[in-house]
Amino acid sequence: MTTIITYGTFDLLHKGHIRLLQRAAAYGDRLIVGLSTDEFNASKGKRAYTKFADRKMMLEAIRYVDIVIPEESWEQKASDIKKFNVDALVMGNDWAGQFDDLRKYTKVIYLPRTDGVSTTQIKNDLEHVDQE
Ligand code: CTP
Repeated sequence: MTTIITYGTFDLLHKGHIRLLQRAAAYGDRLIVGLSTDEFNASKGKRAYTKFADRKMMLEAIRYVDIVIPEESWEQKASDIKKFNVDALVMGNDWAGQFDDLRKYTKVIYLPRTDGVSTTQIKNDLEHVDQE
């Protein structure tokens, strides 16, 4: 069985997230998502609209996702890779090059992002929706 892992916040779930998960899952037999906790995001100065437990519940309902684990630190990737016997780490190419040091443990694959959508964009658009 081949195991793929990816990481992210997946707040305000959108098409770019689903396409990333679909393509990541296609590289193996099971897909693990390391989902950033609210505390980890706070340490990065980020805040998700949807709390961790609900983001986890929604990811678990997606057919491409097999297991959701909490992502609590930058350093845990190497131990996750060993613990889950991971064959490839897949990330969107906004992270290109940033996880190359993990190539000593597993394959690292960066996929093109889906154009024209992001959580930041959605938040921004909703702030400007006409209230009438
Ligand atoms: N992703 C993607 N295409 C997009 C948006 C995200 O492939 N249009 C991927 C990212 O590259 C990452 C994963 O989805 O591998 C989770 O991304 P995340 O940072 O949670 O979502 P974003 O929409 O990028 O959020 P933000 O705007 O807050 O950065």
